[in-house]
Amino acid sequence: MDAYRSHSPRDQRRQVLVVGALLLLGLVAAVFIVQARFNLFIAAPPPPTNSSSLRSYAAAQPQDAPIFPAGNGREVFLTRCSICHSTALVADQPPLTAVVWTKEVNKMRTVYGAPVPETDIAVIAQYLAAVHGPSPTLGR
Ligand code: HEC
Repeated sequence: MDAYRSHSPRDQRRQVLVVGALLLLGLVAAVFIVQARFNLFIAAPPPPTNSSSLRSYAAAQPQDAPIFPAGNGREVFLTRCSICHSTALVADQPPLTAVVWTKEVNKMRTVYGAPVPETDIAVIAQYLAAVHGPSPTLGR
């Protein structure tokens, strides 16, 4: 009885449908695999462009630069002393003499390993003493 039923025209149609659906699924999967392998339909990401196509803006750097006035040694100071912390840490100190700034620069070198060449110590200390020393111009 069951054997007879499973070969009824209705069951045969169902079998054809199931086999067809499986074949279709297989085909879709194959198409996806092939396209993924060879990038057929989905556009590949654009190739890297050269740097001349990058956009850049002459944006003022918000961090600290404006508050340190122009002066001999400013660039050295900003370069050497903004590696590890903001230069606001320097601006937040009370005004110090060149002697004390020299000690501070040396502390950065010896205690924290700041890569400040010997020849830059005095330049930085003089600059800081000028703008943030006995007669400070910093922040004015
Ligand atoms: C190698 C990293 C490094 C560099 C470069 C560096 N500092 Fe520091 N600095 C530190 C650390 C670490 C502290 C301690 C931060 C804290 O206490 O939160 C510090 C703290 C300070 C302070 C706060 C007072 C103190 O002594 O703790 C001042 C002022 C200062 N630095 C100035 C400078 C100056 C001027 C330069 C450039 C000559 C400089 N730093 C470069 C690491 C560095």
